[in-house]
Amino acid sequence: MKLGWPVEIVGTGMWLPETVVTNDDLARVVDTTNDWIVQRTGIRERRRAKPEEATLLLATRASQAALADAGVTPEEVDAIIVATVTPEYQLPATASLLQTELGCRWIQAFDLGAACSGFVWAFQVGAQQIITGVARTVLVVGAETLTRITDQQDRGTCVLFGDAAGAVVLRAATDPARSILAMRAGADGARGRLIYIPGGGSKEPASHRTVDERLHYMHMQGREVYKFAVTQMHTVLDETCADAGVSVSDLKLVIPHQSNLRIIESACEKAGLPMEKVLINIDRYGNTSSASIPLALDEAVRDGRIKPGQTVLMCALGAGISWASALVRL
Ligand SMILES: CC(C)(COP(=O)(O)OP(=O)(O)OC[C@H]1O[C@@H](n2cnc3c(N)ncnc32)[C@H](O)[C@@H]1OP(=O)(O)O)[C@@H](O)C(=O)NCCC(=O)NCCS
Repeated sequence: MKLGWPVEIVGTGMWLPETVVTNDDLARVVDTTNDWIVQRTGIRERRRAKPEEATLLLATRASQAALADAGVTPEEVDAIIVATVTPEYQLPATASLLQTELGCRWIQAFDLGAACSGFVWAFQVGAQQIITGVARTVLVVGAETLTRITDQQDRGTCVLFGDAAGAVVLRAATDPARSILAMRAGADGARGRLIYIPGGGSKEPASHRTVDERLHYMHMQGREVYKFAVTQMHTVLDETCADAGVSVSDLKLVIPHQSNLRIIESACEKAGLPMEKVLINIDRYGNTSSASIPLALDEAVRDGRIKPGQTVLMCALGAGISWASALVRL
């Protein structure tokens, strides 16, 4: 096994909107059923932010929880990275606003847009800031209000997505046993429009027409994403383990991005990974994009599924199509 990079997660936190939307709630709005959603996705309910709850609020609450858990004050934070595709505004970065909400110094603060794999990309960038000595303490956040960009009239997408935020605090590891063993990331832009928002960007700036044609919502070719996700998740899992010189059976826990229970089950089966080692909470929260992994991580820390010294693999895939992984000894 490689020695890895001496970076550790010293705190985790999350925040969820209170409003629960069940499959039956959605079946009253679009032509779907609870059975269809459970069978095809594993999702039973998801959270929806109230109109006055936007991404900055979710990010702030999750960050405050992570800082408290780490025993780190806002003044000690050297960098904030927010992974999101649903920023507070198009401009400026949500991370910049978060810096003030938290009471941090004038530190580096930027957003990272890699959709559902965004948190793991941000985790990697944050770790690299520490490894290169640019920062000592980094706050990495995944925060999304996906229900704002999901067409609630489109049954192919509205059943999948929910709102949430999660955060971790990273620091240079003092205990040499704690480290990041391997990190992988990549993207295939040829599949870039399998999940995309056609309107509101520079290609199709906002106009009455783009709004009338519902181009500001997420458009997705679900079946194509599904097929690619199964193969690529399995490949990334294998490659990350190989980089670290560990076998899949050495992993204590895998935290996959919660996109679809069937994607996760198929990818894990291909990798020879028993589902007892795989963290699942998609049934309660749906796909929360960049929030899904820090959310699951925080839950696993709280309920004792993650213990010090364990080898845990985080692995995500999303729009881009992009993917990222991090194998961490906690
Ligand atoms: C979206 C997804 C659940 C659809 O499941 P699927 O088994 O692939 O279903 P298909 O898209 O092939 O559609 C099958 C049928 O179900 C229908 N359908 C789609 N959504 C439905 C819903 N919510 N309720 C009932 N029927 C639905 C389709 O219209 C289609 O009907 P048809 O055969 O009459 O045309 C699945 O493709 C998926 O999860 N893809 C990955 C999406 C994802 O993870 N995106 C984010 C990546 S991070």
